[in-house]
Amino acid sequence: MKSVPRIVLFLFLIFTTSLGFCKSTSDQDPTPTPWPHQFHSIMVMNYSGILQVINLWYDWPNGRNFNIIQHQLGNVLYDLEWNNGTSFFYTLDSSKECSSAQLEVGILRPNWLDGARYLGQQHVDGFLCNVWEKVDFIWYYEDVVTKRPVHWVFYTGREAHVMTFEVGAALEDAMWQAPVYCFDNKTSAAASITSISANIMVDRVLKGLVQLLEAAFIRSQLVCATAVNQPGLDISVCCIA
Ligand SMILES: *[C@@H]1O[C@H](CO)[C@@H](O)[C@H](O)[C@H]1NC(C)=O
Ligand SMILES: *[C@@H]1O[C@H](CO)[C@@H](O)[C@H](O)[C@H]1NC(C)=O
Ligand SMILES: *[C@@H]1O[C@H](CO)[C@@H](O)[C@H](O)[C@H]1NC(C)=O
Repeated sequence: MKSVPRIVLFLFLIFTTSLGFCKSTSDQDPTPTPWPHQFHSIMVMNYSGILQVINLWYDWPNGRNFNIIQHQLGNVLYDLEWNNGTSFFYTLDSSKECSSAQLEVGILRPNWLDGARYLGQQHVDGFLCNVWEKVDFIWYYEDVVTKRPVHWVFYTGREAHVMTFEVGAALEDAMWQAPVYCFDNKTSAAASITSISANIMVDRVLKGLVQLLEAAFIRSQLVCATAVNQPGLDISVCCIA
């Protein structure tokens, strides 16, 4: 488990050294609408032709974020993120697999798009959108009229198409409980990077984990890009000037 942040930091060093962080945007440009403090969104994801449906439950007041990932004709992977930096990745099927990761940062803040660079308007998925780019990690498309997110694309090419956006929707508490095998050292997968590497070719969940680590890494970048407002976060983790 300890090695996970090291991977994140390693990727982070690779990808950030040439990027300009913490830049700001001009005053007259439109600004992205902050995320509602609670919402539910169904998204279709396309990652180089691999399709997933994600149920995203964002719950800022309770400091938690849930991605429930349905792989096409495949398993369901639960990616549960807490604001204390702990994430759990698990299945609820008979394979009973669970991994966890400890990040330096918590979940995205509602204002995580602050300071994004405005790129103008563009039609995407049939909607006229304002487009912003944030620290070279994400391109974000918001409907000009309704101000709802329509689409976003990560620098990896992983793209999200927002299908529903229910402001105020909250998932009941019981659903946020990671299964007991996440807390049992014997059955938990991927306690170290060695076991991740050993299993990576054969284990779908671990493949999912690597993808999620990448997602977690992107998340930490985005959280860090708003770190100015986040007391207690060591900015040296975030901004390599
Ligand atoms: C998914 O993205 C690929 C490009 O990476 C594209 O060729 C394909 O048409 C997309 N599939 C869907 C269903 O949007
Ligand atoms: C973070 O919070 C979750 C949920 O309450 C808990 O399971 C986890 O152990 C916590 N992690 C740390 C590092 O305290
Ligand atoms: C799992 O390991 C940790 C330390 O490595 C220990 O504190 C904890 O009690 C163990 N839990 C179980 C269920 O064995």
